[in-house]
Amino acid sequence: MQEELFKNIIAHAKEYGFIFQSSEIYDGLSAVYDYGPNGIELKNNIKNYWWDAMVKVHDNIVGLDTAIFMHPRVWDASGHVAAFNDPLIDNKDSKKRYRADVLLEEYIARLEERIEKEVKKGQKRFKDAFDEAQFRATNPNVLREQEKIDRVKDRIVEALNTDNLKELKQLIIECEIACPISGSRDWTDVRQFNLMFSTQMGSTHEGASQIFLRPETAQGIFVNFLNVQKSTRMKVPFGIAQTGKAFRNEIVARQFIFRMREFEQMEMQYFVQPGKEMEWYEHWKQARMDWHQSLGLGENMYRFKDHEKLAHYANAACDIEFQFPFGFKELEGIHSRTDYDLARHEEYSGRRMRYFDPETNESYVPYVVETSIGTDRMFLAVLSAALKEETLENGEKRTVLSLPPFLAPIGLAVFPLIKKDGLPEKAQEILQNVRLDYNCLYDEKDSIGRRYRRMDAIGTPYCITVDHQTLEDNTVTLRDRDTMVQERISIEKLPELLDKKLNKKHWLQKLQ
Ligand code: GAP
Repeated sequence: MQEELFKNIIAHAKEYGFIFQSSEIYDGLSAVYDYGPNGIELKNNIKNYWWDAMVKVHDNIVGLDTAIFMHPRVWDASGHVAAFNDPLIDNKDSKKRYRADVLLEEYIARLEERIEKEVKKGQKRFKDAFDEAQFRATNPNVLREQEKIDRVKDRIVEALNTDNLKELKQLIIECEIACPISGSRDWTDVRQFNLMFSTQMGSTHEGASQIFLRPETAQGIFVNFLNVQKSTRMKVPFGIAQTGKAFRNEIVARQFIFRMREFEQMEMQYFVQPGKEMEWYEHWKQARMDWHQSLGLGENMYRFKDHEKLAHYANAACDIEFQFPFGFKELEGIHSRTDYDLARHEEYSGRRMRYFDPETNESYVPYVVETSIGTDRMFLAVLSAALKEETLENGEKRTVLSLPPFLAPIGLAVFPLIKKDGLPEKAQEILQNVRLDYNCLYDEKDSIGRRYRRMDAIGTPYCITVDHQTLEDNTVTLRDRDTMVQERISIEKLPELLDKKLNKKHWLQKLQ
């Protein structure tokens, strides 16, 4: 794992106003984070790009914004009360609690690391003659570790699918997994732990009732399915998109904003005719991968991974994984949720959740294909892929955030070269003309070089400098963040040029 890089990302996020630990002055609240001035701009730009790619690009996808609090029966119907659990185990010496499946996954990751080390050794030894595929297929050390991995993986999947908690503990013992804190192998039994946060609604005098903070935004869409369909006269297939907060009492809450207790989701439920769900599942897998690839963070940064254990509602599911600094991990889930949710809400509420299809003259409970991505995880993906430490030709170092230009917190910075001779006034005039179209920043402090560096560090794709020549011929220098090339351009051409470089519609057009 690129530990150093990850530490840099966290430090950079704080120093430049992207992300702060929640309640930091009270030593923080674990796995809860606040977004600073640059963070909220980047996060909003990510959300807007997702929203537009769903709602603006598709005639048959509409938006929704439902409440975080929902009737408690919703979570009985959805299966979350009974089955939204993590298998937990405690170490008796350190008193630390872990997710049993995560301990085993980490064990597998260590075996995989050993294989990679072996492959690197082979590369070094055989140099140009090295055939990696053949080496992996024949090297006895690699084969031994791979066999162990396959055996443990099969047993984990079987244990999770059959809720066999004894088997999970047995595996932890057989793999000789020790607590990272105490180093001891003295474990309790594995127990199920529900991840939903609960609170009370109403005062105790009135008889308060227990309600839950939603662990996914999807249920707000399901219970409103007919309200939306009837009010918009949508015909199946159609989709409902929503962004909003979700809450999970995560036990393994590490890795910065990767796994939080309060986080945001961007979810879209696509309602289809029963029997057509696999077709649409494949469609949305590809459409979502295209959306990710459109950002240009690197083709090889993503991969699909089929779920080994299907959730209680799914008949097919996969993740889009992203190469975070700590390895390939889930960024987005695409799930074929069958008619499970709507049928359960029909059963639990006693209300019909059916759609009358005018084409087939039938009423049915639609099937659902869901795309579900964590906004914060997407933020981390973008931030970690974009942050770079470069050594320039003159040996100087620069830190640059190579964000896709339309996602950058500040699209354009405007500088007067010096603080006199009418240059600040001219710079302000230029700023006034574009500030309603893009997030802009005016800065006249420090040398121009330092101002450029500050903008590089927050990912500002373009800077304009107003100098004495500007007053004579109405031209400015436009500096490109990535190439650092400065070109002289006419102020009149600026709106057209900025539109080309910063308007997200050019990226969205490719998705149509
Ligand atoms: N409605 C389906 C659903 O919620 P999920 O796989 O549990 O499925 C979807 O979550 C996405 O939400 C994940 O792919 C991830 O990006 C994000 N997510 C889930 N738990 C999270 C957490 N604790 N912190 C941050 N993001 C999380």
